[in-house]
Amino acid sequence: MIENLIDIHNHLIPDFDDGPPDWKVTMEMLRQAASQGITDVFATSHFSEYIAPDLVKEYLWKFAELQQKIEEEGIPVRVHSGSELFYHPYIASSIADVPIATLGGRGQYVLMEFPMFQALEGFEDALFRLSMEDYIPIIAHPERYMAVVNDFEVLYRFIKFGGLLQINGGSILGHFGKDVQKTSLKILEQGLAHFVASDAHTYKKGRCFILRDVVYFLVDKIPLEYLEKLVRGNPQAIIAGERLEKVEAPLEVPRKGLLQKIKKSFRFLGKA
Ligand SMILES: [Fe+2]
Repeated sequence: MIENLIDIHNHLIPDFDDGPPDWKVTMEMLRQAASQGITDVFATSHFSEYIAPDLVKEYLWKFAELQQKIEEEGIPVRVHSGSELFYHPYIASSIADVPIATLGGRGQYVLMEFPMFQALEGFEDALFRLSMEDYIPIIAHPERYMAVVNDFEVLYRFIKFGGLLQINGGSILGHFGKDVQKTSLKILEQGLAHFVASDAHTYKKGRCFILRDVVYFLVDKIPLEYLEKLVRGNPQAIIAGERLEKVEAPLEVPRKGLLQKIKKSFRFLGKA
């Protein structure tokens, strides 16, 4: 089984976003991460369009305190800084010189999220500009966006314009409903994702650290080598400051074959 998992998307900084309300919950979450076989966790707090310098300062002193508390309590987990940025058209210029805007503060990987229930239009330009500035965008939980659930072509546009995909463990386990689960498995079956992460907000069931549970769930569904990359190999490249290879986006969404169409109409006729 795969050991030493690396979890690139989580909310750990207390009293900062919709993650843990206090240090007690944060530390319980980290103990849980360790029990899931996770050795490295990125603390990717939410940030919106304007990244206020005061918020960055607050994040940084709380992050330093987090590292100190982990050492004091002897929890075998390393933490890395980061953020989950809400998409806006000028994201590339707004993150320049913001140390926590990239994962591990390395100036490379940018974790970004999009609106859950809106049409996703016009993001190609922003992704392209990020690539021009040498950033590598990571699209957080694309399987949860209704626009993707309804139309896989949106997903292919993310990929075509340089986005790497990060799937949530909870989506794979069905915590966000059948449609989201189906979409996440379809993405994995096509080998389009680079990462699976917990996106933990608490230690309570539903939004907690679940990476090992996901590994058990996926082990007989996708090739082991790919599974290893999703939860260890690719995240390790972020820590090492290496650039990951992109996947090729399919040219178009596979349409239903003629045979399937015929079978479907026979089923329909049978019901009549
Ligand atoms: Fe998140």
